[in-house]
Amino acid sequence: MNTKIRINRYLAGAGLGSRRKCEKLVLGGSVRVNDIQVNNLSARIDPEEDVVTIDGKWVEYRNCKTLLVLNKPEGVLSSTRDVRGRKTVIDMAKEAGFSGRLYPVGRLDIDTTGVILLTDDGELAYRLTHPKYEIAKTYQARVKGMIAKNEEKKLAEGVDIGGYITSHCYVKVVKVTSKYTDVELTIREGKKRQIKRMFSAIGHRVIKLNRKSLGGLEFRDLKIGEIRSLRKKEENFLREKTKLILRRSK
Ligand code: URA
Repeated sequence: MNTKIRINRYLAGAGLGSRRKCEKLVLGGSVRVNDIQVNNLSARIDPEEDVVTIDGKWVEYRNCKTLLVLNKPEGVLSSTRDVRGRKTVIDMAKEAGFSGRLYPVGRLDIDTTGVILLTDDGELAYRLTHPKYEIAKTYQARVKGMIAKNEEKKLAEGVDIGGYITSHCYVKVVKVTSKYTDVELTIREGKKRQIKRMFSAIGHRVIKLNRKSLGGLEFRDLKIGEIRSLRKKEENFLREKTKLILRRSK
């Protein structure tokens, strides 16, 4: 996918002022791309590949998009709207005062709680859900019955969820009672209803499911039903993971 953008837009997206002001920076000769001076306004930048500096300082691209995290409650749909009028994650964002053409990044079932991102940044959403970027998703599942050691191993090694064998994943049994088992799982793929189908493949039913973290971010401050913008650090972390920005040199 070609994600190249004009140099002035890149600089404006990095927070260096209006596009007009950024044009002046380019024409003034202080901008370098991959260590080559660029004073041509038609130059295009690939945020994934190119290193842009001004006076020797790395210019980090932020494209001023909205990126929110919601701790989704049960009963809310992770879609933009519902023909049956049920509440969606986008309704929750609007109620909290956020606007724009937002949509959820991936899906959680109506009865699943936990971390879900909402954005208007198509490229970021695409990369966060594309298996190539291997974004980790950690779930806490309460399943009916007792999970035996060999079943735990099966889940970790991969099970057939109906024509698809799941990849290796991290599985940890957290609590076992005679009625249910609490299990933590980290997967790096995202087939529809994957966790429930994985447990179903070993003969157990999921009673409760919560997504605890995404991309290694836990958002522990968020109570169920709460929503907020991602902090700069969190957003950069995800943009680095999805190779939308370069890793800062130490
Ligand atoms: N796996 C499921 O089964 N359901 C979800 O909501 C998310 C992952």
